[in-house]
Amino acid sequence: MADWDEFLTPYKQAVDELKVKLKGMRAQFEKEHTHSPIEFVTGRVKPVASIIEKAAMKGIPLDRLEEEMQDIAGLRMMCQFVDDIKIVVGLLRRRNDFRIVEEKDYISNKKPSGYRSYHVIIEYPVQTIRGEKKILAEIQIRTLAMNFWATIEHSLNYKYKGRFPEEINMRLKRAAEAAFRLDEEMSEIREEIQEAQMYFTKNKEQADQKSQ
Ligand code: GTP
Ligand code: MG
Repeated sequence: MADWDEFLTPYKQAVDELKVKLKGMRAQFEKEHTHSPIEFVTGRVKPVASIIEKAAMKGIPLDRLEEEMQDIAGLRMMCQFVDDIKIVVGLLRRRNDFRIVEEKDYISNKKPSGYRSYHVIIEYPVQTIRGEKKILAEIQIRTLAMNFWATIEHSLNYKYKGRFPEEINMRLKRAAEAAFRLDEEMSEIREEIQEAQMYFTKNKEQADQKSQ
């Protein structure tokens, strides 16, 4: 690659813009004082060293990166609850500032590593001084528990250069299951609280009616 800086410029712009837009979704929920399905948003451009490494591993020629590497621009949206993920994906599908080219549901179909997340690959139009340029970006939507697991697994993977001893692989899988159960338990707790709140609201309405 002759000039990485030039190649990555539209990706940097896309990440900056998408961070503002996705964080904007969160801010709008907060304004309405409803529970926001979006807890926080992060974004990054893949470092050049990682691009080269992944291209070599997957056999992607460097002149095919634009078409074949979907996560040079990467965004992450973290949710409190598994159900929030569907809401967020629904909101992304309704937008008209980008086009969804692919969805990967690693929540219904977790990866062999134990990884869980929902990936949405988009084609995002960046306005450049030479006109519009469409780039691919990957939005990962996951719960805080999924993010906790993936972040640590990724940093350990890096240290082990991706070659975990089988014993570690197994324990990481078990840790992923624990994160899954934590998500389930939190959802159940939330449901019970919501039911209790509905019950109290109904009782209060009835009491108010009687006292009128
Ligand atoms: P790579 O998995 O990066 O080779 O890309 P891919 O084209 O196979 O797409 P995939 O949907 O499998 O993964 C894209 C991204 O998801 C990765 O760059 C990671 O951010 C994340 N990811 C996928 N699998 C794992 C995993 O086992 N552990 C962690 N921590 N992250 C993963
Ligand atoms: Mg993969």
